[in-house]
Amino acid sequence: MEKFVVTGGKPLFGEVNISGAKNAAVAIIPAVILCDEPCQIENIPNISDVSLISKILQQMGAKVRRINKSSLYIDPTSLHTCSAVTDLVRGMRASYYLLGALLGKYGQAKVALPGGCNFGVRPIDQHLKGFEALGADTKLVDGAIIEAECEQLEGNHVYLDVVSVGATMNIMLAACRAKGQTVIENAAREPHIVDLANFLNSMGADIRGAGTDVIKIRGVSYMHGITYSIIPDQIEAGTYMCAAAATRGCITITNITPKHLESITAKFREMGVKITEYDEALTIDATQKPLKRCNIKTMPHPGFPTDCQPQFTALLMSIPGTSIVNENVWDNRYQYISELIRMGAHISVEGRLAIIEGGTPLTAAPVKATDLRAGAAMIIAALQINGVTEISSIQYIERGYEDVVEKFRSLGADIKKVYYTGDNEEELGA
Ligand code: EPU
Repeated sequence: MEKFVVTGGKPLFGEVNISGAKNAAVAIIPAVILCDEPCQIENIPNISDVSLISKILQQMGAKVRRINKSSLYIDPTSLHTCSAVTDLVRGMRASYYLLGALLGKYGQAKVALPGGCNFGVRPIDQHLKGFEALGADTKLVDGAIIEAECEQLEGNHVYLDVVSVGATMNIMLAACRAKGQTVIENAAREPHIVDLANFLNSMGADIRGAGTDVIKIRGVSYMHGITYSIIPDQIEAGTYMCAAAATRGCITITNITPKHLESITAKFREMGVKITEYDEALTIDATQKPLKRCNIKTMPHPGFPTDCQPQFTALLMSIPGTSIVNENVWDNRYQYISELIRMGAHISVEGRLAIIEGGTPLTAAPVKATDLRAGAAMIIAALQINGVTEISSIQYIERGYEDVVEKFRSLGADIKKVYYTGDNEEELGA
């Protein structure tokens, strides 16, 4: 069993480079299916979710080759099936993007229902509603596989009942090569939606309005190969910022787009943290004065991102006073709080609210990552504690954070990955 072992109590200092955005990469890689030529994608994060979606495409016949740590060559022209029903597919949430891409290109798709992080019901009804509006028949087979097919997709108006990142991107994928114009209303506006639209447009698609709540897609008949670089990961950036603030350190994060971090930097400033922005970098300095408590409400972009909620909760534990977190996107994204309570946190959960009495003494305890961002919160909590914390289920963390051990070590953190076999502990390469 692999674990992270963190000896905390030291402020973080230094510089860390932010990788490409996970949630853009896991959509852009399957989106290559729509292309009629090979593509090269750069600034791809080296994380297990990217390896998984790459392997799935390979199983389907595409040629996928890593050019270097952050670039992939993908040739979709050798794809020999529209069916993706293996365990690999079930193993990741974002495999639902195969539905939109396959349906858009070939008029048919058979994809196993996604797995992924564990925080309550994660329906895809809005994705299917969109495909149906474009003329596809969709059905659930054996409760575990979605089949969708259509002779010719035709553009239509789709109004999303909930603002959904996945549904917005999936309908965009399906509509790229449909006949006529599709209009998505009440669309999500996250930076990775704009990134996917930019990627598709560079290949010859005709998408306007991405980044607003109305996206118009006019179908095209051919899409050509390109080289494209993915945007930086705003959530990875927010995670390192939380760790710096929680340890009262001062770090610079590079390879970022400060605009994408506005809702996050606004909260740090409210807490009294000094933020200095540069073109593609930012310094966060929490050494100067005591931090102030604050409240957070997660919302679709441009609101505060739910994917930074657990990391902020772990930070707010360190600030004296009562802070209230309101999780407004997911029904059940507080499973990790019982792990923080093991470390001495005073947090109670009432429905969508987590009430944090910060500044109480924390002690090291064995904890587990209940999902990807929860795992990041465990690291941030552990970094505050003058003791040795063991974090298990780290496979969740490695789904979405590139070189997490190396990056934290470069900031002066004492963190290592160990492999436990009974009583023996063996350190893995840092
Ligand atoms: N929803 C529906 N019906 C649908 C789709 C969504 O009711 O058909 C609801 C969900 O239950 C949820 C809300 O709408 O309450 C938002 O879900 P959304 O579809 O936006 O989420 P997603 O596309 O499944 C992506 C990210 C998540 C991130 C959310 C929200 C990927 C692969 N995942 O999920 O990322 O939390 O958007 O921003 O892009 C993470 O990175 O840790 C992560 C979980």
